[in-house]
Amino acid sequence: MSIDKSYLEKFIKATEKGAIGAFPFIGKGDKNAADQGSVDMMRNELNSIDMIGQVVIGEGEMDEAPMLYLGEKVGTKKGQELDIALDPLECTNFVANNLPNSFSILAVCEKGNLFSAPDTYMEKIAVGKNLPKNLLDLDYGVEKNIKLLSDAKKKKIDQITACVLKRPRHEKIIKSLENLNVKIKFITDGDVSGAISVADPNTNIDIYLGIGGGPEGVLAAAALSCLGGQIQTRLVLDDSEAKRAQKLGIKDIKKKYNIGDMVKGDVIFCASAITNGDIVDGIKDLGDRYEVSTFALHKNSKFINKFKNIHLK
Ligand code: FBP
Repeated sequence: MSIDKSYLEKFIKATEKGAIGAFPFIGKGDKNAADQGSVDMMRNELNSIDMIGQVVIGEGEMDEAPMLYLGEKVGTKKGQELDIALDPLECTNFVANNLPNSFSILAVCEKGNLFSAPDTYMEKIAVGKNLPKNLLDLDYGVEKNIKLLSDAKKKKIDQITACVLKRPRHEKIIKSLENLNVKIKFITDGDVSGAISVADPNTNIDIYLGIGGGPEGVLAAAALSCLGGQIQTRLVLDDSEAKRAQKLGIKDIKKKYNIGDMVKGDVIFCASAITNGDIVDGIKDLGDRYEVSTFALHKNSKFINKFKNIHLK
């Protein structure tokens, strides 16, 4: 089964609207207002789509998020049954501080095919395409994974580039990478695009590794499954989060998830940039209109493309 092709442009419009919702808040120092702007606009757009949609990754659980909460039904209740993972504003900080690489993102699968990851931390390791299946493993450690990747890519270890979120929790990983003389590309936020960058030959990034948000891990997995990349993840849970995860139906809280455990079947992925991005340009304010750029993927139709669309204000 596939997601009907006609849905692609509708979901592109949903992330475009999400991006426009955050635009007035660029550089205003208020990340919550920016997030709310995106949520409101994306939700309106999703509810206009003919689908029986359900949010499986959203803004939080029902009691903590009034809109686009986990389990919220979206769409007109006519059409295909679809599960949606969304991050209406990925990188709230970047919008608040007018920094590059903020996006409005969503991923769609047919019902039951998308891992509903809790909003906790997640270990991640991602690589690009044309590599042996399940080449790397979170349990191998940094040295073994880098050596395996260097052999598989026939690239010297000191020519490998690793993308890492700059956080104190990554001190050990960074030390290991430095000892191996790997090139490090630090990002200060935004590990959806960080993880996806392994599948973009223009970035020269060979591997993404470290701990980031769980929902962001599933969104990256959705994009990588369209781009032919790989990602393995594992939830990082404290005691209360472990109980919450079990309530959400996760039986094995230490499970390592390969890409096929998180995303099954057909996938649509859309990311519209708010501030300028490495993947696509940010929103241009043309006076009476906005020009919005989106990176859009549809797995079954092998569709990988960048769009610019105009929206009247
Ligand atoms: P927000 O959009 O929620 O601000 O998330 C940005 C982000 O950098 C994610 O891309 C990443 O997964 C997560 O935060 C990392 O969390 P933390 O900042 O707590 O290390």
